[in-house]
Amino acid sequence: MHKIAVIYGSSRSDRQGIKAAKFINQKLSERDVQIEFIDTQKYPLPFLDKMHKEYPSGSAPEIMEQIHKILKASDGFVIVSGEYNHSIPAVLKNLLDHFQSEYYFKPSAIVSYSAGGFGGMRVAMHLRAVLAELGMPAIPSIFPISNIYSSINQHGIAVDEKYDLHINRFLDEFLWYVNALKVQRQSGMPY
Ligand SMILES: Cc1cc2nc3c(=O)[nH]c(=O)nc-3n(C[C@H](O)[C@H](O)[C@H](O)COP(=O)(O)O)c2cc1C
Repeated sequence: MHKIAVIYGSSRSDRQGIKAAKFINQKLSERDVQIEFIDTQKYPLPFLDKMHKEYPSGSAPEIMEQIHKILKASDGFVIVSGEYNHSIPAVLKNLLDHFQSEYYFKPSAIVSYSAGGFGGMRVAMHLRAVLAELGMPAIPSIFPISNIYSSINQHGIAVDEKYDLHINRFLDEFLWYVNALKVQRQSGMPY
């Protein structure tokens, strides 16, 4: 069974993106996958001092070790991101920056959202560049969610029904890449 980590980064007390994260978690749970949800509120990290790899094995702070284990065991990553001043929320980038080889040769999928009508398309473009650098290139499709205050309710149910339609193709595409790269990793990696 494929293991998928859903990574959501917002530390705001009134955060809205948790609804998008719930929506994605629920839709993924309908698939034959094991999900780990990395929520930056549940896994708070200080601003980067040492990356996980800079600590002697097993001696990083407990939360960092927990995230490391989840990322290392994962076959793919769904990044749920809001758009802060056209870019990546600092708390999300900070979490991503702590790790490196855990991501290698695994695909990612971008779920962006915003309060307005553009669904966080600008952060999606920034994320695509960062995720490629991290070694988890993003699949071609993006899942942008507009009007996050009203389009998804607090239970993670889509009020705007178009999201229920579009999510299936998006997850089909993502899980295809998850499977393809997993098969290829099993036959070896270049480094
Ligand atoms: C610091 C900050 C910057 C923002 N910048 C943008 C922006 O560039 N584009 C946009 O569409 N919305 C922007 N917004 C509005 C967010 O889309 C909206 O607040 C969203 O709910 C933020 O995600 P969160 O609630 O999960 O933290 C910004 C919000 C904050 C707090």
